[in-house]
Amino acid sequence: MIMETFSGSKSMSENYKNGVDYYYIKYGKFYRNPHYSIIKNCLCYIYHNFQLNWGNVLDLACCSGEVTSILLEIEPNLMITSCDPYTYEAFHNKTGRIAKKWSFSDIQNGLFSQINISFDVVVLSFAAHLITNLFSTMYPLSMACEYMIIISPHKNPIIQDKMGWQLMHSMLIDRIHTRLYRSYNYNYIDQ
Ligand SMILES: C[S@@+](CC[C@H](N)C(=O)[O-])C[C@H]1O[C@@H](n2cnc3c(N)ncnc32)[C@H](O)[C@@H]1O
Repeated sequence: MIMETFSGSKSMSENYKNGVDYYYIKYGKFYRNPHYSIIKNCLCYIYHNFQLNWGNVLDLACCSGEVTSILLEIEPNLMITSCDPYTYEAFHNKTGRIAKKWSFSDIQNGLFSQINISFDVVVLSFAAHLITNLFSTMYPLSMACEYMIIISPHKNPIIQDKMGWQLMHSMLIDRIHTRLYRSYNYNYIDQ
């Protein structure tokens, strides 16, 4: 039997040299985030220290379900929608759940208003730096989501107020940045 194995590099910039989409289509099923326990600490901290409504959560760029699995460990009854255009199979194999194939471009092109969907919280973990048109992604997200949590090994991207988000909390755990934002544009009065 021939075993398929991961043959990418430890350097993500090397891995992305043929394109981010190429890398995740080919190797997404082997991706494992080595910072799983830090992501868990960050999400636990936000969950227990801020009074957010967690009724309906979006795990954006969910890969093989790192954030989804952690959130379900914290609160098994959460309603979570997970999406990623490239790692549908890996997500299903790892979690037994079905991911949507929504991409950043879909969000830029008005997906949420077209299908009339909104979320209490969107979590974007280890993927914000992959967004090429930041304003065009962040603004529609701010219309559809009340809170946003960005977890990232990078300081960038910087999310500005004009993108529709107000920074509420920022913290650094083991060189991983976690930032909590509240939307300026989410219509929380009518929800
Ligand atoms: C480094 S992984 C992060 C996965 C997971 N959220 C985590 O915390 O471990 C980046 C993810 O971004 C996804 N991605 C790449 N380009 C994307 C795009 N244009 N739209 C949405 N997701 C994208 C990839 O498929 C991959 O699953």
